[in-house]
Amino acid sequence: MPHYHKLGEIPRVKHTTFYKPDGKSLYREELVSSKGFSGIYSTKYHYHLPTKILRVKELDLHKDVAWPEAPVLYYHCFTDKKQTPGDFIRSRNVFLQNEHCTMATAHISEDTEDFYRNAYGNEYVFVHYGSGTFKSDYGEIPFIAGDQFIIPRAVTHQFKFDDYSAKNKLLIVESDTAFEIPRHYMCEYGQLSENAPYSERDFKLPENLQSIDESGEFRIIVKMGKRYFEHIMPDHPYGVVGWDGFLYPYAFNIKDYHPKVGRIHLPPPVHLAFTTQHFILCNFVPRLFDFYPGAIPAPYFHSNVDSDEVLYYVEGDFMSRTGVEEGSITLHPGGMPHGPQPGKTESSVGAKETKEYAVMVDTFAPLLATTNVRDTIDKEYAKSWLSGD
Ligand SMILES: [Fe+2]
Repeated sequence: MPHYHKLGEIPRVKHTTFYKPDGKSLYREELVSSKGFSGIYSTKYHYHLPTKILRVKELDLHKDVAWPEAPVLYYHCFTDKKQTPGDFIRSRNVFLQNEHCTMATAHISEDTEDFYRNAYGNEYVFVHYGSGTFKSDYGEIPFIAGDQFIIPRAVTHQFKFDDYSAKNKLLIVESDTAFEIPRHYMCEYGQLSENAPYSERDFKLPENLQSIDESGEFRIIVKMGKRYFEHIMPDHPYGVVGWDGFLYPYAFNIKDYHPKVGRIHLPPPVHLAFTTQHFILCNFVPRLFDFYPGAIPAPYFHSNVDSDEVLYYVEGDFMSRTGVEEGSITLHPGGMPHGPQPGKTESSVGAKETKEYAVMVDTFAPLLATTNVRDTIDKEYAKSWLSGD
């Protein structure tokens, strides 16, 4: 996050004695920093040593879903056709992956008392359906559909849904580098500029720090690359009395994204939301269309030779696609041309606005389809341009 936040109790000066109410025992200071000691950081104060672990065990979670025979093609799959009942950790199904990025969906049907920490990865979590409370060692963030969470590496957290009999669905994009706000959205001091599609007041920051001083046995599911471990801790993971800094989880609702429109078609970077070192993430939201006489609002055919392009369809009528549904994913590989399906270019001419919501991910390394794509594929999609001319 580009701005400073503070919750709970912290000492006036860093790295100095900070005593508990008994006046004798110390709270334990932990610096959580990025890029060594050179990037953004936060400083947390724990009731107890944060390093205490009772037991460790590797878990057999999320088997390999690689599909090495997958042809290089245009893909469309229906993520709602692949549902694994379970909590917000165990219900995840990976659809696309490369060495820097993984895209998964999860239909959450159960609550859990387990905690989750992605030790090697940063997560973007989009709430497609459902509402509830995100809980973490940095505090809580109430969530609704459309919220997009940025969860930095090593945040211990839980997604608690209000109703497990309702449809709850998350899209999870994992990155091996941090999700960042694009530099050109910020002024030289880090404040979001007037050109940015969002402002500081659009972000949902942690609140209501729980500060739970409780002992027992607490299970944290720790993800380390593709391996999962169970860490049993003797102290409650939310035993933080206070923290401050710039490194913390936050959320931003896709419906708060302020789109830009142009006289003629503007390319996807104008819809940019977050960047990483190996891919970008965009928000497509309802907007007025291009207003130059004869302008074609649908995109022209294009080959982004350095990017694989993924769209996750959220809501509304998608102006350049036929056959997609809410929860559909399309993948257009780099180095192959792609564009609107037959009839979509013509039908976009003269249209005044679009009501679509979608999340786009453009990766700089090729994405590989998994067996979950194979099992939920729209077999006609790759040939859907044959009826046009
Ligand atoms: Fe494209």
